[in-house]
Amino acid sequence: MQESWGAVDEHLARALLPADAVLEQVLAENRAAGLPAIDVSPLQGAFLTLLTRVSGARRVLEIGTLGGYSTIHLARGLPGGGRVVTLEFEPHHAEVARRNLHRAGLAEVVEVRVGAALDTLPVLEREGAGPFDLVFIDADKRGYPQYLEWAVRLSRPGTVLVGDNVVRRGGLVDPAADGDPDVRGVRTFLDAVGAHPRLSATALQTVGAKGWDGFALAVVD
Ligand code: SAH
Ligand code: DHB
Ligand code: MG
Repeated sequence: MQESWGAVDEHLARALLPADAVLEQVLAENRAAGLPAIDVSPLQGAFLTLLTRVSGARRVLEIGTLGGYSTIHLARGLPGGGRVVTLEFEPHHAEVARRNLHRAGLAEVVEVRVGAALDTLPVLEREGAGPFDLVFIDADKRGYPQYLEWAVRLSRPGTVLVGDNVVRRGGLVDPAADGDPDVRGVRTFLDAVGAHPRLSATALQTVGAKGWDGFALAVVD
């Protein structure tokens, strides 16, 4: 099945996405720099661009930058004057991301902040950086429950929240994964989203080039 998912992803990408030398180079740079190949797929990236556009977001927060591949997609959905703040723990990842963002012509649009998100999120709040219009949560999965709380704190009614990787090849429902702190983080995150009095949510499973996974989507009431 996985092979067909990949072939279908390639077909869809060929049919729907314009050729993009910058994005291809970013992925090549990320691999050359030794970053793990866990960027969103090209089609998922285009989905992030669309979400940013249809929500009319002007201020976007991303938690988990890696090499900035998803960041570029988010930034491309912004109107003129829009901004992305993206949080990354690994200095090497942040450095690669800054280079990629510069190459994509987005150095002035995106701010990369280095540090553990649980340290940099309170700084953003103190600075009055919010409210953000869209928040993409994609850092360490065990941190998702706390990132959710911060995302809501930095939101306004209408803010869109997106959580990546909430299915984890079915790990979500696999008893053998009960001890995995990342799977536990995702389960707690989903339960907290569902129980949250200010969130209306859904989740969509995905298959494709990156295997079997899913996005959680929520809007702040
Ligand atoms: N959004 C990226 C992929 C992010 S991968 C894309 O789709 O292109 C997850 C990233 O989160 C990694 O770069 C990892 O270093 C970072 N990360 C892990 N723990 C973190 C933390 N506590 N705070 C901020 N970033 C963290
Ligand atoms: C992992 C992290 C991601 O953000 C992702 O999209 C895929 C996998 C991981 O840590 O395994
Ligand atoms: Mg991810």
